[in-house]
Amino acid sequence: MCGIVGYVGGRSALDVVLAGLKRLEYRGYDSAGVAVLADGSLAAAKKAGKLVNLEKELSVRPLPAGGTGIGHTRWATHGGPTDVNAHPHLDGAGRVGVVHNGIIENFAALRAELADRGHDLRSETDTEVVAYLLAEEFSSCADLAEAMRLVSLRLEGAFTLVAVVADDPDVVVGARRNSPLVVGVGEDESFLASDVAAFIAHTRSAVELGQDQVVELRRDAIRITGFDGRPADDARAYHVGWDASAAEKGGYDYFMLKEIAEQPRAVADTLLGRIDAAGSLSLDEVRITASELREMDKVVIVACGTAFHAGLIAKYAIEHWTRIPCEVELASEFRYRDPILDPRTLVVAISQSGETMDTLMALRHAREQGAKVLAICNTNGSTIPRESDAVLYTHAGPEVAVASTKAFLTQLVACYLVALYLGQVRGTKWGDEIQAVVRDLSHIAGAVEEVLGTMEPVRDLARTLADKDTVLFLGRHVGYPVALEGALKLKELAYMHAEGFAAGELKHGPIALIEEDLPVVVVVPSPRGRSVLHDKVVSNIQEIRARGARTIVIAEEGDEAVVPYADHLVRIPVTPTLLQPLVATVPLQVFACELATARGNEVDQPRNLAKSVTVE
Ligand code: M6R
Repeated sequence: MCGIVGYVGGRSALDVVLAGLKRLEYRGYDSAGVAVLADGSLAAAKKAGKLVNLEKELSVRPLPAGGTGIGHTRWATHGGPTDVNAHPHLDGAGRVGVVHNGIIENFAALRAELADRGHDLRSETDTEVVAYLLAEEFSSCADLAEAMRLVSLRLEGAFTLVAVVADDPDVVVGARRNSPLVVGVGEDESFLASDVAAFIAHTRSAVELGQDQVVELRRDAIRITGFDGRPADDARAYHVGWDASAAEKGGYDYFMLKEIAEQPRAVADTLLGRIDAAGSLSLDEVRITASELREMDKVVIVACGTAFHAGLIAKYAIEHWTRIPCEVELASEFRYRDPILDPRTLVVAISQSGETMDTLMALRHAREQGAKVLAICNTNGSTIPRESDAVLYTHAGPEVAVASTKAFLTQLVACYLVALYLGQVRGTKWGDEIQAVVRDLSHIAGAVEEVLGTMEPVRDLARTLADKDTVLFLGRHVGYPVALEGALKLKELAYMHAEGFAAGELKHGPIALIEEDLPVVVVVPSPRGRSVLHDKVVSNIQEIRARGARTIVIAEEGDEAVVPYADHLVRIPVTPTLLQPLVATVPLQVFACELATARGNEVDQPRNLAKSVTVE
């Protein structure tokens, strides 16, 4: 939610910041703005709408050249997406400029205080107060980092702030509480950004900021202190394992298409090196002892959106392979119901970004109650893995499209690995059984590749449904969360009414929705593994078809029982029942992407959404 960039160095700050914002636009695209320090003053430009609007504005009214600058791409919270509410915000004298990600909860009180002191703020945002407060503090200490520290202590809520001041043109200062901020260390130049993607074209050396820290950035020096003023000793330097090309479209029309196509590699990479010659599985970081894991009597999975669907599927594997009860809960609901947690509860937090505020707050609540937290995450160094007791990284590479695809498949792989790991530690699965599942998992990359090679009819079908109002999705067992995921993809991309139902639940109400030619996608379990499941779903298809539904059936190769009832049949490779979501989800991603395109929607940046949701 909101992308931030800061730069100080020998290049054109405007060019670096704009290129960085382009890479961060997935975080929000309601408005964009930049500010550059040049000739002892601060020059800013900002525009409602996507970055392209700002670029047009700059081509008409260019900013002066300078080597220090900041920029912002916004997902609006306080105040609509207007030019005035766009960041950077400046103080009354136009000397201090600030960009912000997060929500300052006590901004109303601070604004009233500033008004009492005679300041007349222009925007409706929570951010503008920071520019005025920084200017006030700077006027007495003449040190922007110190001013930032003092102001941060007065703010409540979640905030990443990056600021510059005209009186000290070689410095950019950042502050971080509960929202991401990463430092990029270059040769005689330094960067600050919400995500390494913003500066990866210039450097792969990064330093992650801890909670409640302020960073002062110069060309050749970085100084990090806590909000308490003490030098920070926990800043972690790391090398980014991917390069700029990974964050580019690589010839595809959309990032989503590229990311769908990358799934075979992402799945294979997530499995890489997980099992040693002796057949033992390993996670990335584990600060939970084997005996603590053996003592666990409950697993609770917390996540949001697509990651929540991965959690729903994980429940089947965890309970089946470990016999530990597993609950799955929307992270945004979790702490408000006062869940029963203790040191024998293992909480699994799943998040692509590692910054989702709802998930972060859920894991903090769990840890406060004494539970241990294991994170499944795609973003190295992000807050959720940093605050967890154990981590398993998905190696999907950067996911830029707002709609999650490769992150989902790799989250599933990670969930299966966690379930097997628990089975290994607790002795509920023998080594050869674990190896057999890992072998099955190792065939999935090829199976996904196979599915991707057969998607043309799915695309054709999607285009013919572009004028429909509703599509329903049905599934049973692990196919039920797949149906939910298919519906979520269609909602967020095609802006259509789409709902996923447990196939067996249909007769308890939703079947009333079925009418002539209503498209219903049905995910059919394998007939080989659990025939009872399969047969029930085949009956469900007959029930909806008898009421006029147009059935779009996703079924395994060789499943002939579905043929008479499928108006459209999508074949997927033969896969063990529990692993079927890894292949069954792919056609639904392609379907949603194509339908959105046919409806003329923005595939990578659907309306009202942002990739990383850092507000609750
Ligand atoms: O970064 P996270 O995995 O924590 O994000 C969770 C959800 O916001 C995310 O999966 C969202 O639902 C996607 N846009 C769905 O495609």
